[in-house]
Amino acid sequence: MRVPLWLDTISAPKFSQLTHDRSVDVCIVGAGMAGVTLAYLLKDTELNVALIDSDEVLHGTSAYTTAKITAQHNLDYHKILNHYGEYQAKCYANAQLDALDFIEQTIKKLNIDCDFEKKFSAVYTQDEKYVPILEKEFKAYQKLGLNGRLVDELDLPFPIEKALILENQAQFHPLKYLICLLQEIKKSSNIEVYEHTPAVELKKQPTHHIIETKTGFHIEAKKVVQTSHFPFYDDLALLFAKVEPSRSYLTACKGAKTMPDGMYISYEEPTRTIRTYQDYLIVGGEDHRTGTTDDTVQKYEIIEQFARDMFNIDEISYQWSTQDYKTIDQIPFIGRMQENDEIYVATGFKKWGMTNSTVSALLLRDLILQKENPWRSLFSPQRKNIRAQFKNLVLYNAQVASELLKGKLKLGDDLESLDRGQSTVIHTDEGKYGIYKDENDELFVVDITCPHLGCELNFNRAEATWDCPCHGSRFSYKGEIITGPAHHPLTSTKNKIDPNLF
Ligand code: FES
Repeated sequence: MRVPLWLDTISAPKFSQLTHDRSVDVCIVGAGMAGVTLAYLLKDTELNVALIDSDEVLHGTSAYTTAKITAQHNLDYHKILNHYGEYQAKCYANAQLDALDFIEQTIKKLNIDCDFEKKFSAVYTQDEKYVPILEKEFKAYQKLGLNGRLVDELDLPFPIEKALILENQAQFHPLKYLICLLQEIKKSSNIEVYEHTPAVELKKQPTHHIIETKTGFHIEAKKVVQTSHFPFYDDLALLFAKVEPSRSYLTACKGAKTMPDGMYISYEEPTRTIRTYQDYLIVGGEDHRTGTTDDTVQKYEIIEQFARDMFNIDEISYQWSTQDYKTIDQIPFIGRMQENDEIYVATGFKKWGMTNSTVSALLLRDLILQKENPWRSLFSPQRKNIRAQFKNLVLYNAQVASELLKGKLKLGDDLESLDRGQSTVIHTDEGKYGIYKDENDELFVVDITCPHLGCELNFNRAEATWDCPCHGSRFSYKGEIITGPAHHPLTSTKNKIDPNLF
């Protein structure tokens, strides 16, 4: 796995694994930005809280971001206005701006040194045909009171047709910020943090819920919050069928001859996202649905070439990739999974995780404390208006169905030609198996039928993982789960291939 710039420049605090049963008021599953911020917000309440993570804290998606803190989420406002009306579109904008303000005020209050800088944010196009869409979005900004402007030029080393700028946004080092929140959490007596404690099962009871961990211990909680990127427990909400997993690639480079002053993203595909951090230029993009590209290594090469051609960089210092989920109406799911239930979720941040994580923490805090919050209906996972997007749901699930079918038909390569770091797929009467040869010539064989709902996994060469094109589950080449919704690892063998298999 490639290490992102953010993880390589900090020393994350350590927490112990859960080694006994616990009973708490609130259990937060997932110690990334949403979970840590929520725990921070609950530390001054009467509630006893357990914050658990399947891995080390802060080593999940929050470490693999561009760390732009902006209310400008591509060109979404005119669509939200159309689908949900002015009140809800204002709610969306206010929620994002409040999240930015919360981060800024928290940094000031705790005196956090996390390289926070106010910057403008820009969506640009290099194609004339998209200019009317930027103009439509600008009109939406005016209606919603967002401080935007259209420009014909940016300080980028390539021409553009038009850009929409949103002033007074920000960027920072996300993990330096979150480490300080964790230090504050550590000081409070009502919050416990456990890492290497995966939640594997949730049993609903009338007055409380029981979370079973992989290590065999139980946490009894009156309220359960799933901030684990993708919820481990679906509660018949079928969220996996309402989100689309997608991957993207980032590179931090040194020696760029142009260091632009803002934060940028292209409207058209292939996406290009750009910002700076100290003397690093960060560029990325090449988004694609998880598990649907043949050559993920090439994605890094394309980004590198872009950085060399446009910014004349000297060297690549870091490369990393990330995964996020997009809901079918582009608005995250934040809130109760079912009516009158005490199981909450936050997912579907569509790669705008810095503000959406903070929105989640602020909204979930209010729901847990039974306070009114104007954003509640817009982000509700049970929202009815999502049916307006039903066409998208049918289309997306049609793609999922075709992946299921394709999995039964595709032919594999010849095992004998396998080089180190390469994979192949073999077919047997028993099913299909993925084989990976590591740098020590050891072979790892896994059943590549996804244990979630049975789609066939594809190999991701850049990360040496098996990725599911249906709902985004990912597994190491040894078969271990990296990302759900799958709950179970792949069945695997190492260097013990039954000759009858071939
Ligand atoms: Fe749903 Fe693989 S993640 S079938």
